[in-house]
Amino acid sequence: MGVVLAPDLDLFSDEVLLDPYPAYQVLRDLGVVETRRYGVWIVSRDAHVREVLKDWHTYSSAWGTAIDPGVNGLRATNIISTDPPAHDELRDVLAPQMSARSVRELQGRIDQVAADLVDGLLETGGGDVVARLAQPLPLRIVGDLVGFAEEGREGLLEWVDASFNTFGPMNQRTRESIPKLESIWEYLDTMATRERLAPGGLGAAIHDAKDQGRISADQCRSLLFAYATAGIDTTVNAISSAVWLLARFPDQWSMLRSDPSLVSGAANEVLRVESPIQSFTRLARVTGRLGDTIVPRGSRVLVLFGSANRDERKWQDPARFDVGRAAADHVAFGYGVHSCAGQFLAKAELQGVLRALVERVSTIRLVSAERKLHNVLRGFRHLDVVLG
Ligand code: HEM
Repeated sequence: MGVVLAPDLDLFSDEVLLDPYPAYQVLRDLGVVETRRYGVWIVSRDAHVREVLKDWHTYSSAWGTAIDPGVNGLRATNIISTDPPAHDELRDVLAPQMSARSVRELQGRIDQVAADLVDGLLETGGGDVVARLAQPLPLRIVGDLVGFAEEGREGLLEWVDASFNTFGPMNQRTRESIPKLESIWEYLDTMATRERLAPGGLGAAIHDAKDQGRISADQCRSLLFAYATAGIDTTVNAISSAVWLLARFPDQWSMLRSDPSLVSGAANEVLRVESPIQSFTRLARVTGRLGDTIVPRGSRVLVLFGSANRDERKWQDPARFDVGRAAADHVAFGYGVHSCAGQFLAKAELQGVLRALVERVSTIRLVSAERKLHNVLRGFRHLDVVLG
């Protein structure tokens, strides 16, 4: 059986959310751990995380990927709450649009938006990176790609943040966030209709799939939800963490500036060191085994992407931010059938920002940073920098 952890470790307390890495280290040393606090089994090592995510027959998404059963009931038809073959039919709907090749065609536009936003920051010598770079970029890129009207889309920032919070346990953050899910549905039911969405976008393609009988009306609605929400706050946090890391480690910033061919690797290193999504869950449909540990049927398994990406069994000196590291084999985008559908887009956005910074900025000085306390996302509420 697994180690039963003292019930006083709360992975979702303010203290641990501010700096989860010491707790992750303890968990990795213990192996697979059962905790009574939230009734979950915690999987924190890279190899175990991959085993869980690869074996969807045992560790299913079909009962949801949040911790709370009530919250899981709210996302019943969503792509993230299905197993193959139903999952693959939903995933296929936008596979061509999300491919590496399709995203390559968007790179020029992404670079332009990133350059304009960095220029805007430079005009005032710097400012809040979250509000002026990290939020507007994905909101613009994903909003345009889905085909939303400009008006009203900024509301998504707050609602999406809340939506991700509900993946945590039933704590204050989750309780306050649940009502905001309703705002996303209201927004989508008004703005993501066939008539309001721009032709040729992801939203229109989802409606096409419904019209062709490939997906039901319910699935159409929940796919719109998935693609409107999954790609905003995740990328916002990735961009904020990138600037924070480059400001904190000037030697890494100099290295990147002197060799811009490191941009792609640096983007992966940011995602590894500060994984924007820290955790999701699966349900053991049958009894599983992870190393020496038997995970009983019916257990909820908490998968810690953020810990796996700092596993010393996989990475040398894992806490060190090193833009020269070959970091592509991280699990920040998950692993297996559910691995992020938008990962090429997310990386294109992150690389666009890094390139814009490298080409325009010589120094990044951190003035102040306020972390966002969030059940599953890791990032900042504010990040003030001076840019030279
Ligand atoms: C840095 C930014 C991003 C990160 C770190 C991230 C991370 C993840 C992770 C960890 C998963 C796996 C969930 C699971 O295993 O249950 C996932 C799934 C997903 N992501 Fe992302 N994501 C990012 C950006 C995006 C973008 C830009 C989009 C699209 C516009 C997107 C769309 C999706 C969708 C649709 C899924 C569900 C895939 C499935 O269930 O098959 N993501 N993402």
